[in-house]
Amino acid sequence: MPDLDQTISQLHAAARAQLASASTLEALEAVRVEALGRKGKLNEISREMGRLAPEDRKRIGALLNATKQNLEAELAARKAALEAGALNQRLQAEWIDLTAPAPGPRPGSLHPVTQVQREIEQLFVSLGFTVLDGPEVETEHYNFDALNIPADHPARDMQDTFWLKDGRLLRTHTSPVQVRGLERLGPPLKMIAPGRVFRNEEVDASHEHTFYQLEGMMVDRDVSVAHLIYFMKTLLSAIFHRDVAVRLRPGFFPFVEPGFELDIRCLICNGSGCPVCKQSGWVELLPCGLVHPAVLRASGVDPEQWNGFAFGLGLTRLAMMRYGIDDIRLFTSGDLRFLRQF
Ligand code: PHE
Repeated sequence: MPDLDQTISQLHAAARAQLASASTLEALEAVRVEALGRKGKLNEISREMGRLAPEDRKRIGALLNATKQNLEAELAARKAALEAGALNQRLQAEWIDLTAPAPGPRPGSLHPVTQVQREIEQLFVSLGFTVLDGPEVETEHYNFDALNIPADHPARDMQDTFWLKDGRLLRTHTSPVQVRGLERLGPPLKMIAPGRVFRNEEVDASHEHTFYQLEGMMVDRDVSVAHLIYFMKTLLSAIFHRDVAVRLRPGFFPFVEPGFELDIRCLICNGSGCPVCKQSGWVELLPCGLVHPAVLRASGVDPEQWNGFAFGLGLTRLAMMRYGIDDIRLFTSGDLRFLRQF
């Protein structure tokens, strides 16, 4: 039966062509099943062997076996080649250059308020001031009474207060450190006290319940408004590195007499009006004045012998001016897109 010899060699040739073009292990397996599987074409012929003439049977049987063995070897070779290719591809894709320099840790930076605070601390330290700290949870005495704000005084309403259940409070300003500083160190004293303060206020673009102030005070003999103005001018030119338009208005604070509001022209809009300056063109930067005799007395200092000036700088507001930030809420937002700019 010469037909059968031809069929077998055609099947072999067809299977070879298929496995040559099989590019995946799955495709290769499909070729194997079709050619060599139990229901494959070669086995179909094996099952028909019984019907062959004995002289053909031997020859065809040998041819079938040889063909199957060859095909199996060819399949195995192709499979090995495909697997090697796949491995190579993975090695390429997953290659890591161990000699490349590491990206290194991303350095952090100081919060913009901290940066401004440190700068001002350095300035005042260079002018002979001491940097003092005070508690954020304060007593009514230090936050109010010793600062000439008795319980029935309307000035208490100027600063909406977070009261604690035990009668203490979150300090509404850094001024209590004036009293604590004088009590501890006595006159003459030149001190600043940066720190966090709290007001029970509604939050908007220019108001926060938590913000930073920097208190300053100088107590000595014969301190006058001239000293105050000198230090404030020195402070402002150091902060802004340029001339800033300033105005002084009378201002009322029970712990100073006379009291002033020092305003600067808004550095964000240059005076034309914006949300930060509430369209006025001016920003209240710095309340100040001469220390009230009642405060000196409450701190154990004789106002006949000593007097002084004090000021309260809004550190958070200052950072807004410095960096052109128009929403105070960004400072405590924890937003890295904001913080990474500093
Ligand atoms: N403590 C005042 C406030 O927070 C500011 C101030 C400080 C005013 C020192 C005058 C002198 O409103």
